[in-house]
Amino acid sequence: MRKGILTIAAVGLLTTGGLTACSDDSGDKAASAKTPKIGVILPDSKSSARWETADRRFLEEAFKAAGVQYDIQNAQNDKTAFQTIADQMITGGVTALMIVNLDSGTGKAVLDKAKSQGVATIDYDRLTLGGSAQYYVSFDNETVGKLQGEGLSKCLTEKGAKNPVVAYLNGSPTDNNATLFKAGYDSVLKPKFDAKEYVKGPEDAVPAWDNAQAATIFEQQLTKANGKIDGVLAANDGLGNAAISILKKNKLNGKVPVTGQDASTEGLQNILAGDQCMTVYKAVREEAKAASDLAIALAKGETKDTGQTVKDGDRDVPSVLLTPKAIYKESVKDVIADGYVTKEEVCTAAYAKFCAEAGIS
Ligand code: BGC
Repeated sequence: MRKGILTIAAVGLLTTGGLTACSDDSGDKAASAKTPKIGVILPDSKSSARWETADRRFLEEAFKAAGVQYDIQNAQNDKTAFQTIADQMITGGVTALMIVNLDSGTGKAVLDKAKSQGVATIDYDRLTLGGSAQYYVSFDNETVGKLQGEGLSKCLTEKGAKNPVVAYLNGSPTDNNATLFKAGYDSVLKPKFDAKEYVKGPEDAVPAWDNAQAATIFEQQLTKANGKIDGVLAANDGLGNAAISILKKNKLNGKVPVTGQDASTEGLQNILAGDQCMTVYKAVREEAKAASDLAIALAKGETKDTGQTVKDGDRDVPSVLLTPKAIYKESVKDVIADGYVTKEEVCTAAYAKFCAEAGIS
């Protein structure tokens, strides 16, 4: 009670200082308390190369261009570390916190805590179900999955596959994006299974998108299917590469189309070599810029109308959803032209020949 009265008195003093425009020390502190400082927690560095090679880079680029203070950290797939980083960022005075959750439970705990401390919150790339983020910035993830389904179908047709057996390597069961990707590729492939045009093969979700575990899972799928898998719907390039490594062991690479996502250097190289059918390119520079713009606006106490919302239960979350693009051998050069990866990274000695064939000069 006593403490409450003292606090009110202190606020009264600050207000008076502000009104009389006196350059009192405490008044300056009150003004600088609103200086935007953005905290970002990335999920890991193994489930996809993107988090460290693209997101960190483009977020830094956006924050530097805006002249805003920032702190980007990576939880390395550790939920306890994720919460500790968030606590440290909140104590360290961030005005906005952007998270890529490891699961909705820990994501929600972090978002709710930030909110209770007056810190603005953004779900970056992954929506936290049941969460409280003020904005959600991502891609149209169902369309990502749809492009994967269409891509696999296109490559199977090109191979002349008859009643192909299609295996699924889904993303992490705790990532809402994985659910959306699957809804997208199911919308294309399920009608084909139902029409008996395609045969549904083994399907597994890969915990935490763990690429090493994905190889083991795919090897088991291939055994279970007696070696007869004709196409692999892999939810990202890391899972795709895991499947390709097992296909190589069985001399099946290049014969069995595999999908992916993220336009990683490895994924693009697999496409050029003919081992991967396609990937989905998501222009992370735009995602980072959109999230940074929102975080800065929130830090200044402003709100922005994003023009669209996404449903999370009963809640309409104001969202920015960018458009993904399918990439095949002939369009690998577009990803390079966009500055997402460099020619030097993709066209190493082993791939120089393929790069020339694909018109990458
Ligand atoms: C992202 C993908 C990424 C995956 C694994 C998803 O939430 O949208 O781009 O490949 O997580 O990190």
